[in-house]
Amino acid sequence: MDTIRIVGGNKLSGEVSISTAKNSVLPLMASTILCGDKCIISNAAMLEDVFVLGNILKSLNMDVQIDENSKRVIIDSSKINNTDPKNELVKKMRASFLIMGPMLSKFGHFKISLPGGCNIGTRPIDLHLKGFSALGADITIGHGFVEAKAKKLKGNKVYLDFPSVGATENILMAAVLAEGETIIENAAEEPEIEDLARLINSMGGKVIGAGTETIHVIGVKNLKGTNHKPIYDRIEAGTFMIGAVLTKSKIQINGINEEHLKPIIAKLREMGVIIEIDNCILRINGDVDLKPVDIKTMPYPGFPTDMQAQITGLLSTIKGTSVITETIFENRFMYVQEMNRMGANIKIDGRSAIIEGVEKLTGAEVKATDLRAGAALILCGLAAEGETVVSDIFHIDRGYHNIEEKFQNLGANIERI
Ligand code: EPU
Repeated sequence: MDTIRIVGGNKLSGEVSISTAKNSVLPLMASTILCGDKCIISNAAMLEDVFVLGNILKSLNMDVQIDENSKRVIIDSSKINNTDPKNELVKKMRASFLIMGPMLSKFGHFKISLPGGCNIGTRPIDLHLKGFSALGADITIGHGFVEAKAKKLKGNKVYLDFPSVGATENILMAAVLAEGETIIENAAEEPEIEDLARLINSMGGKVIGAGTETIHVIGVKNLKGTNHKPIYDRIEAGTFMIGAVLTKSKIQINGINEEHLKPIIAKLREMGVIIEIDNCILRINGDVDLKPVDIKTMPYPGFPTDMQAQITGLLSTIKGTSVITETIFENRFMYVQEMNRMGANIKIDGRSAIIEGVEKLTGAEVKATDLRAGAALILCGLAAEGETVVSDIFHIDRGYHNIEEKFQNLGANIERI
């Protein structure tokens, strides 16, 4: 199994270019099930999860080509004839549940292995299923599978108890080919949902209000093929921003959207970090005195849970006490033990982490417990004294393309072994 070895202490300099967002590319790929024609996703992030979803779509008899050189994902769904995806592929990746909505919309049926919990929480899909029921689907659960059947899906009002990203995306996709209008209230407002609606609308769908808390989907009969470039990955950008600050460096980050990064920029500025933005380019200077801050993760436009581990790593090196409260997932502090092995002083109290800043972190052998936790341990390794070896890096490859190469290009002493 690969590991990432880092010798900490190097300052970073130069520029890094951000890839497109994993959490956009996955729902975008799933939505092509609806289309029945050829769709091209250009400049797609070439991530492990993208290949896994590509194989799941192939198991539905879709033609999927993922070209690593041109970074294009070309999907032709005209020959799709199966609503029973390969179980062992579905079980490989939690986000496979994103094919439920489009399959239900297109075929009035899906049967899929129930996703289990994962290292960050139990992650039920009750809100997705409630939405499908409201559109007229009969849901049965048994023997580890969930099956939905509908003779005809009909638009309806769906109120989400919590603005779940995946439930909003799935219900939105289910409504695209349904009869009449669906209104999703208390919808998630994440930029990735707006991106999904942009693709669906360019296929000929009618989605209004994505990116706000009320989304209207007016059912259409047919869709056509299209080309789409996903949005940049705000979490990858945020991860490099924290990397610069942890190493007290100045770097330039190309491929950002200021609006999407607002909550991260606001917190870093509150800490004292200097950030300048010029269109899609962000310059960050972390070589300044920093103050501790308190943070609560919230649905967008609040501070993202996907940046919680990285900013905890940074706060662990800032003199004083910071408190981070995780409100989205119930178990997203598993990495804290690993950070403490690097000399951090973090205590967990219920859903909060109490962080006492230490003088310095020290390199250690640590394990990535999930994707963002793994990225956070790399960031800590860049700042730590001596050598850090991060294992279980398959988690990191799910969401960051060539993370070690990007940090090498910025001058870090980091390699994959
Ligand atoms: N929830 C329910 N019932 C549901 C759905 C969600 O109780 O039916 C709960 C979850 O258990 C969780 C909370 O609602 O406690 C939020 O979950 P949400 O559905 O919003 O998350 P998700 O769609 O499963 C996406 C991202 C995650 C990101 C979250 C929150 C994708 C593929 N994944 O997950 O990304 O953390 O939204 O922003 O888009 C990551 O990239 O590292 C990652 C975990």
